[in-house]
Amino acid sequence: MSRLLVTGGAGFIGSNFVHYVIANTDHSVTVLDKLTYAGNLASLEGLPADRFRFVQGDICDAALVDELFGEHDAVVHYAAESHNDNSLENPRPFLDTNIIGTYTLLEAARKHDIRFHHISTDEVYGDLELDDPEKFTEQTPYNPSSPYSSTKAGSDLLVRAWVRSFGVKATISNCSNNYGPYQHVEKFIPRQITNVLRGERPKLYGKGENVRDWIHANDHSSAVLTILDKGEIGETYLIGADGEKNNKEVVELILTQLGQPADAYDHVVDRPGHDLRYAIDSTRLRTELGWEPRFSDFEAGLADTIAWYRDNEAWWAPQKDVTEARYTAQGQG
Ligand code: NAD
Ligand code: DAU
Repeated sequence: MSRLLVTGGAGFIGSNFVHYVIANTDHSVTVLDKLTYAGNLASLEGLPADRFRFVQGDICDAALVDELFGEHDAVVHYAAESHNDNSLENPRPFLDTNIIGTYTLLEAARKHDIRFHHISTDEVYGDLELDDPEKFTEQTPYNPSSPYSSTKAGSDLLVRAWVRSFGVKATISNCSNNYGPYQHVEKFIPRQITNVLRGERPKLYGKGENVRDWIHANDHSSAVLTILDKGEIGETYLIGADGEKNNKEVVELILTQLGQPADAYDHVVDRPGHDLRYAIDSTRLRTELGWEPRFSDFEAGLADTIAWYRDNEAWWAPQKDVTEARYTAQGQG
């Protein structure tokens, strides 16, 4: 049994990870989260008090981080500013949290000689052509497009440097687009589901040809636990579940599953610098560490996700109006 410190555990993927760890291991978990607009304590309801603790705080707060690192066996670092559209409007918080925050954690990991796993994204590799037979691998050169992805790329490089120069016991994973419960309504799938639930039309950027490689958040969680357990220090592992779909296909599925005509959506202004396609080759994780995804039926996973948003309006409703107002101001409402 280990004591895990999970940064960003009140966000989408972090909270899914915490639920997964409590249900599938005997580890205890402390969440360190600033509770920005993206953090939600309601995502952590129902966890057992003897195995779960919540600490509100900033990963840039070196004194707090130092204290918490001294009390744990391993750290899983999810905390980030995570939304590309926000990074195009106001990049500064992305530099603070993704770069300075990760630096602050790495300095504490170095001091306490603690196992550290850094959560990152496939977006550090830039994008692929629609007909490119290659996918991203651990060898693909970094080529980020947005302020968000460039700060995540920067944070990955900090981790690599702290491993090589200071012997920090870190691993990195770069995962593709996650879906599932507890995802903020600013993101593509929850935005469209909650639009339809409210009688609004989904909003597709540009022509909707952009491809994302969807993975269920639980498969991301099982992959991270596998890397924590069996990953080689200093190494990077790509996480993906062969879930490529273009945005138009996803919107049509959401509409159909909610009993609407498949073409009842609007095209809106495209995202500047919009990455065309992401695709992950996760051979290394599968062959070296024996990981396999379990949620391979996207349509079934999407139906479960739609049901979760239908049943949990109280969780997302407080964020919906303010999020849509922001999109309207950007011409994407
Ligand atoms: P999210 O925006 O839903 O959650 C981020 C969490 O971090 C929030 O709870 C927020 O309050 C917290 N946070 C932000 N700044 C903080 C700070 N300075 N100190 C402490 N806490 C802070 O993000 P997400 O989608 O769950 O992504 C989590 C991680 O996974 C990120 O590192 C992201 O880059 C990575 N990732 C996300 C995806 C995806 O599809 N969403 C895919 C691959 C990797
Ligand atoms: O690939 C992993 C990344 O996936 C993570 O690193 C990011 O944190 C996460 O936000 C996600 O980034 P994307 O930019 O791919 O996700 P988003 O949900 O913002 O958009 C998915 C696709 O849908 C993208 O092509 C843009 C498009 N889109 C998005 C919104 C919000 C629309 O067409 N309409 C929309 O309203």
